[in-house]
Amino acid sequence: MRFALAAVTTCFLGSWIAYGSPVASSSDVASAGDGFFPTRLDKIKSMYAWEGFVYDIEACQDFLKLVEDFARMRLMGARNVITFDYCGTGADATYYDTIITAAGWTGINIIPLVWTLPIHPIGQNYTTNDTFAIKSVPRIYAVTQAVIRNPGPVLAVALGDEPLYDNDAGSADALAAYILQMKASFQEAGLDIPVSISDMAYGWQISGNITSVQDAVDFFMINNFPYFDGNAVWGGDNNSWASFLSSIDYFQSLANGRPLLVTQTGWPSNTNTFAPNSADVIATVPSEEAFFKLLDSHCEDYFKQANIGWMWRNWDDAIDGWGALYDNGTEKWPIQARLDC
Ligand SMILES: *[C@@H]1O[C@H](CO)[C@@H](O)[C@H](O)[C@H]1NC(C)=O
Ligand SMILES: *[C@@H]1O[C@H](CO)[C@@H](O)[C@H](O)[C@H]1NC(C)=O
Ligand SMILES: *[C@@H]1O[C@H](CO)[C@@H](O)[C@H](O)[C@H]1NC(C)=O
Ligand SMILES: *[C@@H]1O[C@H](CO)[C@@H](O)[C@H](O)[C@H]1NC(C)=O
Ligand SMILES: *[C@@H]1O[C@H](CO)[C@@H](O)[C@H](O)[C@H]1NC(C)=O
Repeated sequence: MRFALAAVTTCFLGSWIAYGSPVASSSDVASAGDGFFPTRLDKIKSMYAWEGFVYDIEACQDFLKLVEDFARMRLMGARNVITFDYCGTGADATYYDTIITAAGWTGINIIPLVWTLPIHPIGQNYTTNDTFAIKSVPRIYAVTQAVIRNPGPVLAVALGDEPLYDNDAGSADALAAYILQMKASFQEAGLDIPVSISDMAYGWQISGNITSVQDAVDFFMINNFPYFDGNAVWGGDNNSWASFLSSIDYFQSLANGRPLLVTQTGWPSNTNTFAPNSADVIATVPSEEAFFKLLDSHCEDYFKQANIGWMWRNWDDAIDGWGALYDNGTEKWPIQARLDC
């Protein structure tokens, strides 16, 4: 609560001090909170309402572009950003250094996401070398290395975007082993960086015995997309909200009291990137806006009480249709959501 007040009342540069710098500049686990919270997990536990954006890095944005985009997010009120996709091969730790440094400069906390799918989400075909071992494992090491070098702005790490849904590692147990290994690397470096996976309820539900992953993650990052439901119609309708809630209920059942964070939610303004499962779905800017406002409207009656934050996928139409902004940087509607209530 004190943290939320600090975030909204401090000015842009002032909030860097409240936010970016003390999050984890120390390598001492005990002092790795942000001044208000002893640990990052305590901070995650306290978060609710709109937290920020998903940010696609396939375009390999340079430092200045990263700073420009993150600063603009901050001005909108964003407190966190999570990366999506990968740049180049995804195995260059120095690019993650650049991203994390840009986040630190702008006072936004970052969740670097390891892209564990061997290929990009769209527009690519598998070749014989596109395996988890050849493409994804080096990315795990790259992100681990960069986070250890620049822990300050890092809130947590996502080891995979829907790695259970896509069965990236070959089994839940194999995925859990990588999660444990990453956690051990952070612990060895004296860091309390929480590790999780950003996946849909459906991804967990189809993956058989998920106990090992359930036990390995420090908290639950949720991908929550009512748009994909068989009965989806309008972003702002009650079906969408009921679906959003039922997904979170499932994660509550896995979490045993550990924190939840909706790391990816959204509704597209067209069906170009990911086809819907409902013939009646309305994928337009007003429907997208209605879903954003639906979430914002449940700040006090849901997100605050449940202590759950949500992050919007995507920042812009780099994921065609899913952006809060068009590709030219224009907001599809005035982007504003409450940070507390
Ligand atoms: C991927 O394969 C499909 C079907 O064979 C083809 O139409 C498409 O052009 C390929 N995409 C790339 C990027 O090679
Ligand atoms: C796979 O990698 C090997 C070794 O680097 C390389 O020789 C080969 O050309 C690659 N194959 C494809 C289809 O990219
Ligand atoms: C599920 O996996 C865990 C960890 O690998 C194992 O201990 C447990 O026995 C498994 N449960 C079932 C029902 O197979
Ligand atoms: C949607 O739910 C709200 C709150 O439960 C209710 O007041 C409203 O009448 C519902 N709208 C429709 C169209 O069912
Ligand atoms: C940006 O793109 C949108 C959608 O194509 C368009 O409506 C808008 O006019 C453009 N804005 C500028 C400043 O070019």
